[in-house]
Parts: sequence; C-alpha cells; structure tokens
Amino acid sequence: MVAALHADLLSDTLTTPTDGMRQAMARAEVGDDVFGEDPTVRELEWRVAGLLGHEDALFTPTGSMANQLGVRLHVKPGEELVADSLAHVLRAEMGAAAVLSGVSSRSWVAENGLLDAAQPLALMLPEGGAYQVGTRLVVVENTHNFGGGTIQPIEQIAALRDGTAERGVAMHLDGARLWNAHVATGVPLAEYGSHFDTVSVCLSKGLGAPVGSVLAGSAAHMQEARIWRKRFGGGMRQVGILAAAGLYALDHHVERLAEDHARAHRFAEAAAAARPGCVLPERVETNIVILDVAAAGWSPVAFTEAAAELGVRLYAVSSTSVRLVWHLDVDDAGTDAAIAALVPLLKR
Ligand SMILES: Cc1ncc(COP(=O)(O)O)c(C=O)c1O
Repeated sequence: MVAALHADLLSDTLTTPTDGMRQAMARAEVGDDVFGEDPTVRELEWRVAGLLGHEDALFTPTGSMANQLGVRLHVKPGEELVADSLAHVLRAEMGAAAVLSGVSSRSWVAENGLLDAAQPLALMLPEGGAYQVGTRLVVVENTHNFGGGTIQPIEQIAALRDGTAERGVAMHLDGARLWNAHVATGVPLAEYGSHFDTVSVCLSKGLGAPVGSVLAGSAAHMQEARIWRKRFGGGMRQVGILAAAGLYALDHHVERLAEDHARAHRFAEAAAAARPGCVLPERVETNIVILDVAAAGWSPVAFTEAAAELGVRLYAVSSTSVRLVWHLDVDDAGTDAAIAALVPLLKR
C-alpha cells in the first residue's frame, strides 16, 4: 500500500498553477513569439530585464536553456568556463556546455556552495596561450541548490566582479532562485544583476509557474541569444499563455517566499534538536534544507524510503545527505507533518 502523501518536499518545481494563475493564463494576449509578436512574452521580458537592471531579456522554456545560452554567448568551443563543483550548470545540465557548445570546464570546491571570490580567481587562466585552455566565463549560482539554498554574499560577488574585470572574464549568474536570495536579504534584484553580464532566473521553481525561465543581459547579447535559442530548439509560438503565468507569479508569489524560508527554518530547528549536527539551522537561509542523515546512522536512500512510507517525499542528494525543499504547495500543516514524521527517524 502506498502511504498518503502529507508533505511533498522533493522539489520546488512540483507546484501546480493556482486558480488565479490559470485565469491569467486563459486571458493572455498571444502572438507568434518566434516573430517577436507575442505581447505577453515581451511584457515579461521587459519586466524581468527592468527588475535585474539589464537592457533586455529573453523568455526560455527552462533554466537549463537560459544557462546554456549564457554559456554559449560568452565561451567559444575549446575555451572554458569555471564554476564550483556543486553548480547546477556542471552537475545537472547533462553535460550541455560540452555537448552543445564544445566548452571545457573546471571547478573549485566550495563548502555548502558558498562563494569565496579568491577561489575562482585563483583558478582562472584567461590567456592560456598554445598550451592551456583559456578561461572566458565564471558561473555563480545564487541561491545555491545543492549547497542547501545558500545565499552568496554580495561583497564576494562584488570582489569577483572586480577580479574578473581585470582579467577580461565574463560572469553569468544562475539565478534560478535569485528571488529567494532577494527576499531573504533585501538586496535589490538589480544590485545582484549589476555584477553580471548575463543572468538567468526561473519562474517555475519557488514562484510557482508551470514553465519558464528568463535570460537577461545587454540588447546585443539578447539578439544573439534569440538566434541561439531557435538553434537549440527553444523558439516557441503563442507562448504568452506561459509568460502570463510568469507575470502573475511576479505579482503574487515573490514576497511570500519568506513563508517558505520560515517553514524550512522551523523544520531545521526541530531536526537539529532531535539530532544535533544533522543540520545547522543558522545555515538554513532560504527554502532548502540539506539533512545529514548519515549522522543519524541512515543511508540517504534508506532514509528517503522510510520517509516516503510516512508520507514525506524528499531527495537523496549525496552519499550522506537528503534534500528537502519548501514551496507554494507546502503549508504549516505540511511542515508539522514533516516534523512529526522525520524527527523520530532522526532520533532513532
Ligand atoms: C540552480 C538551478 N539552476 C538551473 C536549474 C535548471 O532549471 P530547469 O529544470 O528549468 O532546466 C535548476 C533546476 O532545478 C536549478 O536548481
């Protein structure tokens, strides 16, 4: 028998559109976006460009495509990007930079995904000459998914910008969850955006849209990205119905991310009280909790199965840890249910 699901903490991509969002989608004005004629898509692109302080933006079906367009704009085949070893762009985009753009990559190890500008600056080699691959791009992820929703310190981002400017290396921000960083810190989105040549943001994670991401950058870069989006198979037609979901999410679902953060933090406090050291609540800054279940004698797979039997779905992310993600469809009662189910497992 399959247990009833009390809290689905597998991912913040699981949300289903609310009634208000569905109504906004149904009402959307549309046109053929490959011809640049979808007014709702253009409205979304201008809105996001404005929020991030960039000249223009481009709607994409996925965050992976937005990131890979960023890579493609800055790095030629045979050149390299650098990113931390847990970065989504290296770990979870199925080798796209290598496969689609012939791009080589190197990484540094960042504890909890936290940026220390000195690490990428030490790694990059802009002028490799005839012997070594030249670095063209550094990718920063904010918040950091596999790091545990980690917020990148704005001073470290600024220090990295100064260092890369001296070296002629471009910066791309994987801001799939930049909204969470903005809500948690109060740092304006445009301040984050100002340090990067291109920025990708997702509408389909904490913001609750069913589909969609946006890449922002200069007008010239977005013109080029539009061509590459079509080449990558991402030219969409009357897609204003999806952009409308994104606009609705920007109007209604950004500030409420603070609720997800508070629930994740409340869970982390209960888990740490049950099993000290399995998580440091002060490090749970946004909507993601990485729980070291090995500290309680569990393998992540066995813990995930035991949790599922108690109606809590989560994800084994490493040989020691599981990940829990709060979102629009997990409320206080779901959080209570997760605490009631998982605390006894951690105490075992
Ligand atoms: C940090 C980060 N970047 C990019 C992506 C890619 O988004 P998508 O699944 O829409 O391709 C994800 C997806 O979870 C992510 O967590």
